[in-house]
Amino acid sequence: RPKVTLATLRKLYKRGEPITVMTAHDFPTGTLVDKAGIDMTLVGDSLAMVALGHTSTSEITIDEMLHHCRAVARGTRSSFLVADMAFGTYETSPDQAVTNAVRMMKEGKVEAVKLEGGKEMAPTIARLTQVGIPVLGHIGLTPQRQASLGGYKVQGKTVAKAKAMIEDAIALQQAGCYAIVLEAVPEPVARHITDILSIPTIGIGAGAGCSGQVLVQQDMLGLYGQVPRFCKTYRSLADDIVGALREFSADVKSRAFPAAEHCYPMPQEELKRFMN
Ligand code: KIV
Ligand code: NA
Repeated sequence: RPKVTLATLRKLYKRGEPITVMTAHDFPTGTLVDKAGIDMTLVGDSLAMVALGHTSTSEITIDEMLHHCRAVARGTRSSFLVADMAFGTYETSPDQAVTNAVRMMKEGKVEAVKLEGGKEMAPTIARLTQVGIPVLGHIGLTPQRQASLGGYKVQGKTVAKAKAMIEDAIALQQAGCYAIVLEAVPEPVARHITDILSIPTIGIGAGAGCSGQVLVQQDMLGLYGQVPRFCKTYRSLADDIVGALREFSADVKSRAFPAAEHCYPMPQEELKRFMN
């Protein structure tokens, strides 16, 4: 499969073909996403929770993100690779954002960065895109700000909030975002934003009107506890894995494993001499 670039994503958007996005946090999960032919791989800071066991995404550091980005990059051949900027590494100033986005690209080997926020982030996004760093926006439910949002709640449910979100989306497009993630937004609001923009929207809990869809891999594979309403659980792999681990445990206890086919033999002659 040819390398997916910003031009490829643009082409998909123009012809109305939904863009597929999936998270990955290490070499195997990145390899699987790439093998499946997903258009864009996201090293989301959700890995703070699904891979590192933190209770929120805001706890992860840039160095931890870089460590995971490099691993995903090693498994990524054709998918377009984007990563989240860690909470606290881009909010202070456009300079701070450029410095850290450059690290994400040079040390993390990603092709673009994602950052959360609406029109207050527009000057920062404009600086990043002006110096050649592609930016994926993220509005609606912004998990790095869950403390100030009062938890993980649907955003834009009132006309006033929906209008503010529309303004945010337009500001991000004007600032140069190549696409915008809409998270936990009522379907009609996400559809309207998608209709008025000339860049793709990538929905997660934002309905079928978006230009593409993203899910967290561990959620959709049933590897990470409770999933939100918007997530479709395509497999329940945790059950399979625990089942396999229990079988291994029982086999070892009963000495059913390892069997002869799992053992290395010795040449007959050597064995005879060894036994003497
Ligand atoms: O961190 C993440 O995985 C994300 C996606 C859910 C959009 O930001
Ligand atoms: Na994220």
